[in-house]
Amino acid sequence: MIAVFVMRVGLPATLSRVGLRRIRRGRGEDSVAGAKGLRAFSEGSVIRFDLNGEPAAVDVDREMPILWVLRDVLGLTGTKFGCGIGQCGACTVHLEGQPIRSCLTPMGSAEGRAVTTIEGLDAAGEHPLQRAWIARNVPQCGYCQSGQLMSAAALIERSPDPTPGDIDQAMAGNICRCGTYDRIRAAIRDAADEIRARPERGPSRASGESSDV
Ligand code: FES
Ligand code: FES
Repeated sequence: MIAVFVMRVGLPATLSRVGLRRIRRGRGEDSVAGAKGLRAFSEGSVIRFDLNGEPAAVDVDREMPILWVLRDVLGLTGTKFGCGIGQCGACTVHLEGQPIRSCLTPMGSAEGRAVTTIEGLDAAGEHPLQRAWIARNVPQCGYCQSGQLMSAAALIERSPDPTPGDIDQAMAGNICRCGTYDRIRAAIRDAADEIRARPERGPSRASGESSDV
């Protein structure tokens, strides 16, 4: 259950979706090989962006939803498909730090911009929200939880001391069929308290930003 929101990059890609032509993804040493491989692509078809703090590039239809690219092309299955129509929040990721519904957002809109998924929320899976989620035993089935966490992370980033109303408003678009809402609210308050208590405030991210965690 916990693995839903601490899942790591590196799962095998499934190259089966309609619209997928070719893909290169660079991470660490693989970035070099990825960059060489991109020379074979027609320049206009490749979408370059920042994924969890590292350069990435995919060759897909620009209208393909980001969710499909993440899950089916890049193998980042921590982000979930729920309704597919922007109504449940299971697919929430950050685009330039803002929570978006990746099931509705075309990949082309991410070009040159930063995408953060649950896998990149914290390099060690130790974001204060993740720790609070565990301490409060928030998940039940777990399916909605990565989206819940990404919406919560965006909230406490812009509002370090959220009121109950702030929390309700920010989380209103994230549905939990298991009814974990009370535990989610409590965990958000715990995490916000922890972050505000830090000498240097701010959760860490896979991009290598400073953290005292
Ligand atoms: S799957 Fe995107 S909002 Fe439901
Ligand atoms: S924990 Fe089951 S849907 Fe939210």
